Amino acid sequence: MNILEKRLRKDHSHINLVLACLQYQIDRYGDSNCQSPDLTVALEAINYLHAYPEKWHHPLEDIIFTELQERGLDTKGVIAELRIEHEYLERQTQEVSQLFYSLANDCVVPLSVLKSEVQALIDEQRRHMETEHKHVYPLMGECFSDEDWARLEAQLDDVRDPLFGSPLRSDFADLYQYVLEAEHEGKGNRESV
Ligand SMILES: [Fe+2]
Ligand SMILES: [Fe+2]
Repeated sequence: MNILEKRLRKDHSHINLVLACLQYQIDRYGDSNCQSPDLTVALEAINYLHAYPEKWHHPLEDIIFTELQERGLDTKGVIAELRIEHEYLERQTQEVSQLFYSLANDCVVPLSVLKSEVQALIDEQRRHMETEHKHVYPLMGECFSDEDWARLEAQLDDVRDPLFGSPLRSDFADLYQYVLEAEHEGKGNRESV
């Protein structure tokens, strides 16, 4: 398997970990029986989705999707739909980010709005990645030669993963610690698609 394909698949598993952390946090809002949610971890999770998937994962997928479309492989229009979803997911992430920053600045955010917006983002991200795994990722291995991969890679800048890559950026320290503990305690329900 090409190194870029491996990295894309690993990205999905990391994004799923971050989404599981976000799910764990949002489930705690409004539930007095549980430990209080950690706003710092939630903010870092959202910032991570801005900082890495939007800067590297989506741009590379967009290049790959274009190549597959040009080869006439998007017979059912699934790839075209996924490209539109990238833009939608980025807007949705931005909106959820604004909600959390409002909370952090002591502005009133209705709990029902926060919970439903965050849940919609988590569900959309998971569904999007499942569709890619089912309908698009298998095509990459079948269709692309090493030369194809090299040509595709040359079209984008390398961006290091600030949470799971090295060195870790200090603005994700709380989330990183949380992910480590969650993995250890089985908290946050890790999923791999
Ligand atoms: Fe995607
Ligand atoms: Fe993806």
